[in-house]
Amino acid sequence: MSAPATPASPAPSWTTGTTPNRFAALPAGRLGRLGGRLMRLLNRGQQREVLALLAAGEVDGAVEVVEVGPGPGALLGLLTARADVRRVIGVEPSVDMRALAIRANAAAIAAARLEVRPGDAATTGLPDGCADVVVSVNTVAIWPDLDSGAGELRRLLRPGGRLLLSWHGGRAPSRAARPLLLDEATLGRIETALRRRFDTVERTMTRRCTVFDARVARATRLDPNPPAR
Ligand SMILES: C[S@@+](CC[C@H](N)C(=O)[O-])C[C@H]1O[C@@H](n2cnc3c(N)ncnc32)[C@H](O)[C@@H]1O
Repeated sequence: MSAPATPASPAPSWTTGTTPNRFAALPAGRLGRLGGRLMRLLNRGQQREVLALLAAGEVDGAVEVVEVGPGPGALLGLLTARADVRRVIGVEPSVDMRALAIRANAAAIAAARLEVRPGDAATTGLPDGCADVVVSVNTVAIWPDLDSGAGELRRLLRPGGRLLLSWHGGRAPSRAARPLLLDEATLGRIETALRRRFDTVERTMTRRCTVFDARVARATRLDPNPPAR
């Protein structure tokens, strides 16, 4: 059976109310493949900054990581290269990005350290509590619905789990990223959506990224309908 194609008429994003573009937001076709290759170069520093945050956190033993919206798969490669990461699953809605990510990480896939599968932030198709870490870089403002995505990523985490949700920003955003920066009201909405579901949420500014670092307590019960705070 062939992999599902990138959705033909994607839903508008919750931040702009417009359909994600085919270049970088939901890459498709020739233009999308070009966008994917550019992202691999331009966002490389951001992937490393997010990985450094992950490495700085306490991790007990080998972890299982889900990356949502990996695009061309640069961070998937960095994650699978780490000895403290047992297995990585990339969930990506764009068929063209999945193809780039699979090609770039063929050895890790052959070694059963990586799986790249179709899905999106609201519908990963993965079971409850399958991950110690969920990471997503430069996708949150593109999602159609913030709450559906936040709830789904929380559902994937085990007790003690951690979500790193990153967007362009940080202390010194690049010139290319400046038009993409989110205003404080939008960042505040992300933080509120996470606080409804996670036990702690911190906002961290790296050089190029604004990262929401959200954690699940070690012993916790998942409330599917959390009260608004
Ligand atoms: C700007 S690219 C970022 C790619 C990569 N994470 C990076 O930082 O270079 C956005 C990625 O999010 C994916 N995407 C779009 N809509 C999504 C959604 N609703 N859920 C998850 N990923 C989505 C796109 O297909 C694309 O791969």
